Amino acid sequence: MTNREDMTLTSAGYFVSQEAPIVTDNPIATPQASPPDILRCAYMELVVTDLAASREFYVDVLGLYVTEEDENTLYLRSTEEFIHHNLVLRKGEVAAVAAFSYRVRSPEELDKAVAFYTELGCDVRRNPDGFVKGVGDSVRVVDPLGFPYEFFYRSDHVERMSWRYDLHIPGELVRLDHFNQVTPDVPRAVKYMQDLGFRVTEDIQDEEGTVYAAWMRRKPSVHDTAMTGGDGPRMHHVCFATHEKHNILAICDKLGALRRSDSIERGPGRHGVSNAFYLYLRDPDGHRVEVYTQDYYTGDPDNPVVTWDVHDNQRRDWWGNPVVPSWYTDASLVLDLDGNPQPVHARTDDSEMAVTIGADGFSYTRADENEGKLGNQL
Ligand SMILES: [Fe+2]
Repeated sequence: MTNREDMTLTSAGYFVSQEAPIVTDNPIATPQASPPDILRCAYMELVVTDLAASREFYVDVLGLYVTEEDENTLYLRSTEEFIHHNLVLRKGEVAAVAAFSYRVRSPEELDKAVAFYTELGCDVRRNPDGFVKGVGDSVRVVDPLGFPYEFFYRSDHVERMSWRYDLHIPGELVRLDHFNQVTPDVPRAVKYMQDLGFRVTEDIQDEEGTVYAAWMRRKPSVHDTAMTGGDGPRMHHVCFATHEKHNILAICDKLGALRRSDSIERGPGRHGVSNAFYLYLRDPDGHRVEVYTQDYYTGDPDNPVVTWDVHDNQRRDWWGNPVVPSWYTDASLVLDLDGNPQPVHARTDDSEMAVTIGADGFSYTRADENEGKLGNQL
């Protein structure tokens, strides 16, 4: 936990402090081996049960570009991407995540990934030809938290579509921004991710020090992935960035016009955490996709860590709008390296939904004024 006395309360109502505000009493041992130098989250491999339905959602509605496809697999990318893909959709029996894939700085970093995860006792597999098309030498592991992580450097280069305004749509998805993972023990997860070279940018805690979620980055944005406290390992969402708020509104208008408003789970809105404008969608298999824009630069070494009080009803939505319960409870299964769903373990720390939704009405708009309490579904 972080001592509130060591934090500075800002005029906007959140706290700031320096790196490593979260301490675990159940750590994963730090390997002697150096971690691979990770550049960024690069792509997710998703198993979908109806490839045609998924193609309609991701290509016809959301406008991702098709790099390559065959009868079982779709390779999709966002507007600004120059590597082969940001999303692989593979037809399968059980909707799940097969890989959270990160790009590393050079081919040599893959040797480090092998050494790092071997020392951790993980299932580690390396394929010099890549596990999917368009990507070369790759390392896949089941990490200590149970997630299938991938690392690669080599990728086919494809055309960056930024200049092809003739093809752009009003809701253009321009970059892969981040992953979000559900895990039972957030401090344990954060310490392991810090060993892997990630820095915390924001978190949600209570006054007793229970940590409900943490955001971590390699690239200089708010995050490449976040750890959300809950039953896991599961995948909470994958997120693409747009340029402007109006692009997100255009996606909502389009889904309404298509009579697909049931694809919209939460938002649009403005996050407290990350300061980004957001929208959460559910794909035909229920995989959650976020569309997001306008978070902030975090690349300086002394970038302040932001901590939100779990009872601040503006932390998840800056306008104080309720979080729908499904957003807390639903998430996608993840697979081991043989394609079997990983068992899901229950969270034992307090649940964010339980402490912020309910008759007590714990949440506040202004912490020192009881009249500010808003009550349900926050
Ligand atoms: Fe997100």
